[in-house]
Amino acid sequence: MRSAQLDEVMHIEQAIYEFPWTRGNFQDAIAAGYDCLELRDMLDLPSTTNLPVAASLVGYGILMHVPDQTHLLNLSVAPARQRHGYAREGLQLLYRCAKSVGSESITLEVRPSNAPALQLYRSEGFDQVGLRRGYYPARGGREDALVLTRAL
Ligand SMILES: CC(C)(COP(=O)(O)OP(=O)(O)OC[C@H]1O[C@@H](n2cnc3c(N)ncnc32)[C@H](O)[C@@H]1OP(=O)(O)O)[C@@H](O)C(=O)NCCC(=O)NCCS
Repeated sequence: MRSAQLDEVMHIEQAIYEFPWTRGNFQDAIAAGYDCLELRDMLDLPSTTNLPVAASLVGYGILMHVPDQTHLLNLSVAPARQRHGYAREGLQLLYRCAKSVGSESITLEVRPSNAPALQLYRSEGFDQVGLRRGYYPARGGREDALVLTRAL
């Protein structure tokens, strides 16, 4: 992910979250050196070259590595591309990325009300290890976060 391409990212982010990250949040993550990874469709160029060309943005994931551990800060798939296995496929890439820097586990926060994400993470072997009270903004107040982790 590059700062210059954040229009596409923001388009998805604003479509799928009631409380989306801001452009500044993404810029900060890039500037901090977090692994900000995009999943894109690749189309073959028609004739003169065999090189693939980047097509539409399908989704993205943002990883912050600390010693022995990686935090998954954002995992998102464009609305029209959901339920096609992209998040599960993307997670495999993120696990490999985390392992490659020596992480032994991956940890994330998720809203208890986010049934699709919870279903995904549970089916991927994440277990709840904590609860952060009032962690997220929510309509009319705050919402807790479940803290989930998975060994790599
Ligand atoms: C959560 C999210 C990333 C899943 O992306 P996706 O590409 O649609 O997920 P996949 O197609 O790879 O599905 C993998 C599994 O997730 C679960 N899942 C995904 N969407 C689901 C839904 N709407 N309802 C129930 N389970 C769902 C299922 O277990 C699914 O496995 P299955 O297809 O074998 O049943 C996507 O819905 C999204 O971007 N949501 C908004 C952003 C968000 O909430 N991110 C997570 C923040 S912690």
